[in-house]
Amino acid sequence: MTTTATDTIQTHQPQAQKVPLGATVNIPPRRLDFQFDDKTTTRYFYDNDPFLSAFWLSLSALFPEGEAFFVDAVRHYRKAITDPKLKAQVAGFIGQEAMHSKEHEAWNEMGLKFGYPTDKLDKSLGKLLGLVQKRTPKIFQLAATVCLEHYTAIIAEQLLREDEHQEKILDDATAKLWLWHALEENEHKTVAYDVYEKVSGSYAIRAGAMIPTTVIFFAVLAVFQTRMLASDGRLFELKNNWKGVKFLFGRKGLFTKLAPQYLDFFKRDFHPSQHDTDALLDEWREKLFGENGMLTEQHAQASQRKGKKAH
Ligand SMILES: [Fe+2]
Ligand SMILES: [Fe+2]
Repeated sequence: MTTTATDTIQTHQPQAQKVPLGATVNIPPRRLDFQFDDKTTTRYFYDNDPFLSAFWLSLSALFPEGEAFFVDAVRHYRKAITDPKLKAQVAGFIGQEAMHSKEHEAWNEMGLKFGYPTDKLDKSLGKLLGLVQKRTPKIFQLAATVCLEHYTAIIAEQLLREDEHQEKILDDATAKLWLWHALEENEHKTVAYDVYEKVSGSYAIRAGAMIPTTVIFFAVLAVFQTRMLASDGRLFELKNNWKGVKFLFGRKGLFTKLAPQYLDFFKRDFHPSQHDTDALLDEWREKLFGENGMLTEQHAQASQRKGKKAH
């Protein structure tokens, strides 16, 4: 069977059926149409903690513009990809990231209703990334995407592996948003990397790009976090903020624990598939989209609505 990776992938079987983008390579974009608002969503949804809730919201504020940047970087090289499997993976990647941007926009909108400046932060990031797109070579943009996809994959893997995170997310819809996104980040974690390997493969550019990417990533996150806390009147709650910093960077902190996986990226023969998440993804696909999955019904309804609109 051959596949094309245009807007839909056609199967060449007697009764040609349209299958969702990327479905043939297990990177299916799933429509979910989350509904969030400030009345049904818990303001300090993460462990009732203002600092850590602001942290996840800061991360979320990076996604709409950030993931659009990833898509642009990969799409630029789409024509150079001739391998049908990678083409289908690219289609799945673009579709999944587009859905992530859409759903995080909805979540960020809810943050705005709580008084957080998610709209302004989104605009600032858009300007910064616009500048990067104008001033840097396309191959650097793709390498930076590979670096950030590595970040998202390892953070997402921790979210899926550690019950602690799942227990600390108090809000049902919010938990589902993050777990779904975490699943899909790992489903497509090899795509930008493989495109990069096909069109360049330079170790020096890939590893070199990780340095400025890391500096900019944490600098932007720090600015976002500061502005979130300031808007919430909690910038000088030093004790709790320090506790939050330790949760992220302390001895057993979220980022500290990721250091070995992060450093793997600098190995010459690194490939994202070396972090084996196959069993983990099977488990979460079942939990989220299996017969009695947490999102099965929501996904079916959203797809049905989309289908009706299309006709
Ligand atoms: Fe994403
Ligand atoms: Fe991604």
